[in-house]
Amino acid sequence: MISKATIDKIFSTIRVEEIIGEYVQLKRAGSNFKGLSPFHEEKSPSFVVSPSKQIWKDFSSGKGGTAISFLMEIENFTYPEALRHAAKKYGIEIEEDIRELTEDEKQSQTDKELLFKIHEVANTFFQEQLFDTEEGRSIGYSYFKERELRDEIIKKFQLGYSPEQKNAFTESALNKGYSKEILEKSGLSIFPENSPNGIDRFRERVIFPIHSFSGRVLGFGARILKNNIKTAKYLNSPETEIYHKSNVLYGLNQSKQAISKNNLCLLVEGYMDVIALHQSGIENVVSSSGTALTVEQIKLIKRLTENVTILFDGDKAGIKASFRSIDMLLSESMNIRVLLFPDGDDPDSFARKHPQDYVENFIKNEAKDFIDFKAEILLKEAGDDPIKKAESIRDIVKSVGFVQNALKQEIYLKEVSNKFKLSEQSLFNELNVQKQLQKQHVSPQQRQETQVKPRLEKVTEVFETINSLLMLEDKLVDLMLNYGDRVLDRKDDENKPYQITVIEEIINHLDEDECEIQSEINKKIISEIKEGIAENKLRFGNFFMTLMDEDIQGKIADALIEPYELSNWEKYSITPIKPGSKLSEQISETLFKYKRDYVLKIVEDLKKELVSAENKDEIYMKLVKLSQLKNKLSEVTHRIL
Ligand code: UTP
Ligand code: MN
Repeated sequence: MISKATIDKIFSTIRVEEIIGEYVQLKRAGSNFKGLSPFHEEKSPSFVVSPSKQIWKDFSSGKGGTAISFLMEIENFTYPEALRHAAKKYGIEIEEDIRELTEDEKQSQTDKELLFKIHEVANTFFQEQLFDTEEGRSIGYSYFKERELRDEIIKKFQLGYSPEQKNAFTESALNKGYSKEILEKSGLSIFPENSPNGIDRFRERVIFPIHSFSGRVLGFGARILKNNIKTAKYLNSPETEIYHKSNVLYGLNQSKQAISKNNLCLLVEGYMDVIALHQSGIENVVSSSGTALTVEQIKLIKRLTENVTILFDGDKAGIKASFRSIDMLLSESMNIRVLLFPDGDDPDSFARKHPQDYVENFIKNEAKDFIDFKAEILLKEAGDDPIKKAESIRDIVKSVGFVQNALKQEIYLKEVSNKFKLSEQSLFNELNVQKQLQKQHVSPQQRQETQVKPRLEKVTEVFETINSLLMLEDKLVDLMLNYGDRVLDRKDDENKPYQITVIEEIINHLDEDECEIQSEINKKIISEIKEGIAENKLRFGNFFMTLMDEDIQGKIADALIEPYELSNWEKYSITPIKPGSKLSEQISETLFKYKRDYVLKIVEDLKKELVSAENKDEIYMKLVKLSQLKNKLSEVTHRIL
């Protein structure tokens, strides 16, 4: 583990503009630098670097943070990897702090390293088997040739072969000195009691290595060669410390540049689909390889583009199951189109039958938006049955409910209205019914499981209070991040002057009334601040920079970079906090407003409780007191304003 002293040294030495300057062409803009976002194709620069604050902010994706978090984003580094990279660039010697690691941590760190290593070794082994052994050539290589793969594409995807001998790989790895434990942990070998020499998981199969975003081998998929055998066609690596299948997309490493260049990601189902499309020159394609699409996978794509076209086999039985993927993509603000291949074809067979131009045009012209796609599938199924037809339309409107942007949502609703000759009003009502249903039927846990977040369009009174409470909470956090160490002149109840820092004043107020912070990220930041105060670290300029939590980094960058320095800042409708002499009033005002809204929120909660409560009197009493308190707070706020 890198010592705290080294981390501090790194943060005080590195320059965010120098590190980012290696990836992005930066131009001066006032006290900041501006450039084109490296995470998105864009024409006008929305990427800002602040040398004075040592942070960056990408307004096109909302990401932001320190030089270190930039390296983590762009290189897919872990936190320590990014630190090491930066240290190397600036010639900072890394002092390891081994004492801080527990035995378990040390173990898991070396395990992870070993797992990466053993996968590299296996990857080389399988490729050598394919090209350099007789069995490999006559069985594995000739299989790939049957599937019309050219050598260069076999090499590009590092395809391999695992031989018939049941422990060929295990034996070779044991001979190289790798332990049984690590082989077992990697999922590459199995050691049953009656086979002490081990068995290769993937024996007698062709091998598809699965790479991370940055190109490390994390696991394998392996296809059986005989079609008649009654065992799974593809075997995949089990979950290990380095392979979490929900966080990985097959082909992403080989496709990432084309995805970002084309500003479009094609999503297919299988290994062979990715490879065949690459071979025909279409390189912006990934596959979730047999698992249902996850939010983590969508986020991986989103780093490169917001546009996804899903390509389905024409005869795919489970197409309706894919509706969930559509809703998930929509709720992650992706723009999607969907393409069905003609019956019997999958992207692999289609790409082999037709030239590149034809396939490209087919994808471009035949892909439908999700409304047309769902309508086609559902209406075919419904036939003339009016009830089923209504259900289909309801199903489509439900998907529209997942669209994150209100304007887009309205456009889609218009489309549905035109398509089915239904009034927009009735569709809009249906949309709101759907949203209510989603709210009632989906428990928070289920919602977390499916990770589908319906948008709450209709703003109720309660929602409004909570919303404004959240905004005030954000503003308090912003004030602490921006002006935390400024000293305020205050007077106590007896009119005696005293001095207090912004951070302390705000924290004291929140603690005094035991206000529960609403947003998770604010909760995290405030608890970090409290810890910082307790350990007396808050005085160091680097304090916030060295907090490694990604969410916190983003939020800090948000708070510190003034959006009005951008030409199109209105888009983000952020009201900047005006620096200067009014700071002390601003803080008092925000605190009082916050408390007033907090009281309102408690009142709302109590009113809801009242409906089913047995101790109604008690609650009434509380409500009366709260209402008095609220009036008092309003009075104070008015006086200040
Ligand atoms: P398909 O059966 O459509 O695979 O499964 P495919 O790529 O067209 O296979 P080929 O063309 O016959 O070689 C799609 C994907 O589902 C996963 C694999 O990732 C496969 O690429 N899968 C399928 C499994 O993991 N296990 C299986 O038994 C079958
Ligand atoms: Mn196939």
